[in-house]
Amino acid sequence: MTPHGQPLPLRRRALGTTGLLVGPLCVGCAPLGDMPEAFAYSVAEEQALATYRAILDGPINFLDTAASYGNGESERRLGIVLRERGGIPDGFVVATKADRDLRTGDFSGDQIRRSVERSLRLLGLERLRLCYLHDPEETTFAAAMDPGGPVEALRRCKEEGLVAHIGVAGGPIDLMTRFVETGLFEVAISHNRYTLLNTAADPFWDMCRRQGVAAINAAPYSGGILAMGPDAYPRYAYRDAPSAMLERARRLESVCTRFDAPLGAAALQFSLRAPHIAATIVGMSTPDQLHQTIEWARRPLPDELWADLATVTPTTDDPDMVKEA
Ligand SMILES: NC(=O)c1ccc[n+]([C@@H]2O[C@H](COP(=O)([O-])OP(=O)(O)OC[C@H]3O[C@@H](n4cnc5c(N)ncnc54)[C@H](OP(=O)(O)O)[C@@H]3O)[C@@H](O)[C@H]2O)c1
Repeated sequence: MTPHGQPLPLRRRALGTTGLLVGPLCVGCAPLGDMPEAFAYSVAEEQALATYRAILDGPINFLDTAASYGNGESERRLGIVLRERGGIPDGFVVATKADRDLRTGDFSGDQIRRSVERSLRLLGLERLRLCYLHDPEETTFAAAMDPGGPVEALRRCKEEGLVAHIGVAGGPIDLMTRFVETGLFEVAISHNRYTLLNTAADPFWDMCRRQGVAAINAAPYSGGILAMGPDAYPRYAYRDAPSAMLERARRLESVCTRFDAPLGAAALQFSLRAPHIAATIVGMSTPDQLHQTIEWARRPLPDELWADLATVTPTTDDPDMVKEA
């Protein structure tokens, strides 16, 4: 963990048992797949390509996408830029996720294999370095673990060399815990559950550590509200924010204002400071946000700020259970 108040380095470390060398920041590419239903705005292809180029040229060496982001659009756009570069730059790690069929809901083993094959095609790769089973809450644990089911299909992709390392990425903590406890996954992503607004994933990090699974925290801004501010972006975990959450975000923002600190910097460093989190995935949709992310990660923040932020108690309710505003 970086000591309080010290600028954060982007030093690369082995990602658990995968041995992949990655920094503590990972660029999340859901917005680059153009997902207005989740983020309430569109991202045009040229803007996405410019952002991907800036990412590959920048100091962050870890990128996170998924087959479902824009139903292949995030991967297709990334594939255009990877082909321009003649493949993934040395030392860069591209992770993606295998998904159900978004149209039919099919979460079978055959579908997961088709998803991996489509990712390889769209990205122009022969092998995925890291591929997660994505959003397993869209099926049941039993169905996911069935012989011939999605987990077995992903493991088979690994045995055949289409995927080097497998992980699991999803929401509900109880369910994610069951998958981690199978011992089949090297990496686990939890999202929207460890932020200044919500700390439901707190016990999950420790559980991953005990299991020897690398833990990754996605969406440190709760989907954007903690980067853009509650007035500019009154949404929480991809829905209109309930009034209690807006109130919490406003209180956090006013603490930051007192210390002349950007709310986004505090939200990002809250995740980067957590001892058991191997990497934090930050969504971004422009090259400027990439530069700002690095600035926010490095910005010195005083101990007193953390003490005052801690007076605004985060919820531990599951964000998927939060009622609409
Ligand atoms: N099931 C899963 O595995 C799962 C679930 C959720 C997320 N994830 C991963 O985690 C990533 C991050 O999650 P997220 O994108 O949903 O949420 P997030 O990281 O909490 O918030 C991202 C949003 O914050 C805004 N933002 C970022 N940097 C900013 C800056 N410097 N200034 C102003 N605004 C800024 C951007 O909004 P604008 O683009 O509107 O400016 C961006 O889309 C995803 O992209 C995905 O890769 C995985």
